[in-house]
Amino acid sequence: MLVAMITAIAHSNIALVKYWGKRDARLNLPAAGSLSLTLGDLTTTTRIAESEQDIVLLGDAPADAAFARRVTAFLDLVAAELGTGRPRFRVETTNDFPTAAGLASSASGFAALTVAACAALRQDVGPQRLSELARRGSGSAARSIPGGWVEMAAGSDPEGHDAFATEIAPEGHWDLRCFVLVTVAGSKATSSTDGMTRTTATSPYYPAWVDSVADDLTQAREAVRQRDFEQLATVAERSCLRMHASALAADPGVLYWNGATVELIHRIRALRRGGQPVFFTIDAGPHVKVFGPAESLAAVRDAASGLVVDLITSAPGGPARLVAR
Ligand code: DP6
Repeated sequence: MLVAMITAIAHSNIALVKYWGKRDARLNLPAAGSLSLTLGDLTTTTRIAESEQDIVLLGDAPADAAFARRVTAFLDLVAAELGTGRPRFRVETTNDFPTAAGLASSASGFAALTVAACAALRQDVGPQRLSELARRGSGSAARSIPGGWVEMAAGSDPEGHDAFATEIAPEGHWDLRCFVLVTVAGSKATSSTDGMTRTTATSPYYPAWVDSVADDLTQAREAVRQRDFEQLATVAERSCLRMHASALAADPGVLYWNGATVELIHRIRALRRGGQPVFFTIDAGPHVKVFGPAESLAAVRDAASGLVVDLITSAPGGPARLVAR
C-alpha cells in the first residue's frame, strides 16, 4: 500500500516575558501570559505516515523509550481532543540544531507534531486550536504555532480554550537577531516542567513573580509594536531575572546557571553600557540568549570568547506549517 507522507516544520521560540508556572497541570495551563520571538533558524521537521505500528524516530535512529512514549501519548491526546480514533503512525523528527545542548526543542517539536498529526488525522484545525493542542505537549510549544512576535494568553477558562498564542507582529516587523551562547555541551539537570513545579510549590517569591507578569507583558507588547529597543531590553532582562529569582528561592533552590552564564550577563551588560544595542535572556538551562541587530554579532562573539562552546545565530521566523516533502 502506498501511504501518504505528511511533513510539517516549526521553529523554536525564545520568551522575552517568561512563562514559569501553571494554573492547571493536567491541561498545562500557564499561570500567566508570555511573549516570545519565533526563531527561523532553529527548526524541527516532523514526518508522519500511517504504519502497521507506532514507530518513533529521532533523526535517523529509533528514539529512546521515554521520548517515544511522549510522542505516542501526544498523538492519542490529539486524536481524543479532536473526537476521532487514530491509526498507528511512523513519526520521524529531525532538529537542525543541537538538541543535546539543552535548547528549546520541545517548543518546535510539539508544534511541528501538532500540525503533522492534525493533517495525518485529516482534520482541518485552525491556528488557535492548533496552539491550544500544542500547549498540551509543552507550554512554550503553543507559541511556536504562530510566527514572528507572539503573545501567549493565560486565559481564564477552566478548560483552557482561551489559553493559546497569537502573533502580535509579523516576522518581518523588526529584524532583531538572537545569538544563542551555548556555555556547555550536554542536556540540563532539571527540566523546565520540574523546575517550575518546584517553584510553584515551594518558592515564597512565586506569587510575586506571577503578579509581576501583566505589567511586563503590557510594556513588552508596546516595545515590540514601537520597535523600542531600550524598553524591550529593560523588560526582557527584568522578566528573566525575576523568573530565575523565583526559582532560586524554591526549596531546594533551582539554579540553572553556571559560572559562564553569570560572566556573560556582566559582559552583555557592559556591551550595552558601551553603546552596543544588546540584551540577554536565559531559560531553564545555563545558556545565554542575546538579542540585538545583525551588526552586533562580532561584538557579541568577542565578548563571549573563552566562555562558550558554540554560538548559534537566528533571524525571526514564520509559523508552524505543512510543507511539500
Ligand atoms: C524557561 O514549555 O518547557 O523556557 O509546559 O512544562 O513543557 P512545560 O514547560 P516549557 O517551559 C518553558 C520555560 C522557559 C520560559 C519560556 O519559554 O517561556
